[in-house]
This record gives sequence, C-alpha cells and structure tokens, in this order.
Amino acid sequence: MTTVFDPITVGAWTLPQRFVMAPLTRNRAEAGGVPGDLAATYYGQRAGAGLIVTEGTQPSAVGQGYLDTPGLHSSEQVAGWRKVADAVHARDGRIVAQLMHVGRIAHPDNKDGLETVAPSALTAPGEMVTADGQKPHVEPRALETSEVPGLVEEFVQAARNAVEAGLDGVEVHGANGYVLHQFLAPSTNERTDEYGGSPENRARLTIDVVRAVAEAIGAEKVGLRISPAHNIQGVLETDPDDTRATYEALVDGIADLGIAYLSILGDPEGELFQDLRTRFGGTVGHGADRAEPGHLLRRWRRGLHRLPDPRRGLTDGARRGGRGRAVRCRVRTRARRPRARGRRPRHRASSRGSHGPAPPRRARRRHRRELLHRP
Ligand SMILES: Cc1cc2nc3c(=O)[nH]c(=O)nc-3n(C[C@H](O)[C@H](O)[C@H](O)COP(=O)(O)O)c2cc1C
Repeated sequence: MTTVFDPITVGAWTLPQRFVMAPLTRNRAEAGGVPGDLAATYYGQRAGAGLIVTEGTQPSAVGQGYLDTPGLHSSEQVAGWRKVADAVHARDGRIVAQLMHVGRIAHPDNKDGLETVAPSALTAPGEMVTADGQKPHVEPRALETSEVPGLVEEFVQAARNAVEAGLDGVEVHGANGYVLHQFLAPSTNERTDEYGGSPENRARLTIDVVRAVAEAIGAEKVGLRISPAHNIQGVLETDPDDTRATYEALVDGIADLGIAYLSILGDPEGELFQDLRTRFGGTVGHGADRAEPGHLLRRWRRGLHRLPDPRRGLTDGARRGGRGRAVRCRVRTRARRPRARGRRPRHRASSRGSHGPAPPRRARRRHRRELLHRP
C-alpha cells in the first residue's frame, strides 16, 4: 500500500515523500523585497519537506501587497533567492517560488507609493497592514486591455528569474483573492473585453499566464494553485454553475500542457474538486483534512503507525485522463526560536494555557515511546 512516506515523481521533481510545505507569507524580506539570510535559514531548516512552496512572491513591484514580502523582479532579489535555493539544495530539498500578484489587495505605503491595479476599479473590503498600522485598501485602477499581456509577461519574467536563481520551479498563485482570482470571479471582474463577462473570458488570463510560464521554463516545473468558491477578500463565487463553468474552462485550457501539479484549496471529496481532478488528469494536491486541520500531522506525531484516511490524505497522483488520487498535504511549520542561553528550567510555566506546565523531559520521552508502540 502506498503511504505518505513513499517517494513520488511530480513534474520535474522526485519527492522522497509526499508532504508539501504550504506557501506562507512571512513578511521578512529585506529592503527592496530581497530575501535575506533569515529566509535562507528558514527554508533550509524546512528542506525535509517533499517540496517547499515559498511564500507568495511578487512578480513585479506593482504586484506587491503586503509589507516586506519578497519579489522576483530585480537582480538583487534573484541573488537573495539563490542563497535560499542553495540552502535548500545543500540539504537535498526542493523548492518552488509561489508567484503572487495581489491585484487590489494592496496599499501604496507597502510599495513605495506605487499604484494598485486590478481587473476592475472595485475596492477590496478590509484593511492592509502597513508600517504605520492598518489602512483601508485603496481603489485600484482597472487594467486596460492592452496592458494585460504585460501582466502575463511579469509572471513569465519572474518564472525565468526563479530558474536563474536556482529554484526548482514556480507555483502560479491563482487562489485566495489575488489578481488572477480577481479576474476569475464575477464579483471582482466587471470587464467587457475578452477578459471579462463569460466564464471562459474570466478564465482567460490565468490560462494565458500558465501557458506562457510553462513555455518559458518548462511545464514540468510549473504548478498552479486555485481556490474555487473560497469567497475570500471580497472575491465571491456564489453561483455554483458559474463557478463550475469558470474552473472547468480554466482546467480545460491548461490540461494539455502537463504541468507538474494543480493545487486545489477545497474539499477533496467535493464534486467540483473531483470533476477538476479528472479534467486535469495530472497530480492534484490539497490541504490537510479541512474538517480538522492538522489531524494528519497529529497522527504523524503519534508514531507513524496509522496512515491517514486515503480520501483525505496524500495518496497517488492521478494518471492522465483517469480519476487519480490527491498527492499533496500542506504542513504548516513554525520558525525555530533561538534557544535561550544557559540551562532550561525543568518545569516551564509556558504558554501552554490550560495544558499546564510542561512535564519533565524524561516523562515526555516515555510518553512518546508509549505512543510509538501502541498498536
Ligand atoms: C500566515 C499565513 C500565510 C499564508 N500565506 C500564503 C501565501 O503566501 N500563499 C498562499 O497561497 N497561501 C497562503 N496561506 C494559506 C496556506 O498556504 C494554507 O492554504 C492555509 O493555511 C490552509 O492550509 P490547510 O488546509 O493545510 O490547513 C497562508 C496562511 C497563513 C496562515
């Protein structure tokens, strides 16, 4: 029986096991959106994942939304990512850059006063954290039709830069309410050109981006993340028929490429998820058990003796044209805190809340041994 700890080939990469580190925005980039030594240490520490997907990384200066996120559009940034790639490869890991253009989820304060662009001039709800505190999102400028190929080119150049930096590929971020998702959803796309209106038109930009990026760096080094009906950041997909038509058009528009994977944020047992997986025909990934986040990790901590429920966990990739099974699990990890100098107290009245102080180390070890030997 295949388990989450068996190797698997996904696109250009042979993963020693099937845990994938989720993309997690860290807000730790140095001046100019350059990943610094901290990033190299952080990702190097996580090289044991089957594959690391980096934090969302802007393909252009205008595409930045959050404070201190890294980019992949300048030579300094490429040099910073090279250190990250080297740190991960030195520990036999694999790492792809997530290309995230935020569209309207932005504030000029976080990007040297640059403008914000989106499919339509519709302001996102909520606020953005800036160095001076929370500020409401600004009204974006609707991109002209003639500017859309330039947006595609930003993704392409960033993907080339990722490869130049020695990263193993890219994940195109089409999920979670950022620019590609803003084009996909009717609530944020009021365009009347070929990028708006029908589901096929709204899917066009994401298809164009994935196709162009695949052509530039090789389809086997490209993943795509989507989140149908996630209804997040004011990007609403509330009509199930429209949502299905949009994502079917999207997946049909890229299925022939043979990209490395499609990551779908959603219920892996849901009808739409299954439909898209069949249409895609390649490796499809998803988060950990959404009903009970973290349960896979907890089971793993309990001693590896129980396999995750195959309907929810990580199993074989799909064969082209078949009803394959999902392969991806997102394991959230925390940066290791530097250890305090000197002796650690045996009983730490820490932030364990209702769990009370931590038991002595020997007792914890015994407890773990017992769990490992449970049938
Ligand atoms: C702090 C934080 C930062 C995140 N940053 C990103 C990001 O940059 N890109 C992205 O696609 N998802 C991002 N996510 C979403 C996670 O990748 C993941 O999808 C989410 O936490 C649900 O994972 P789960 O289903 O395994 O619990 C972020 C989540 C958190 C909590």
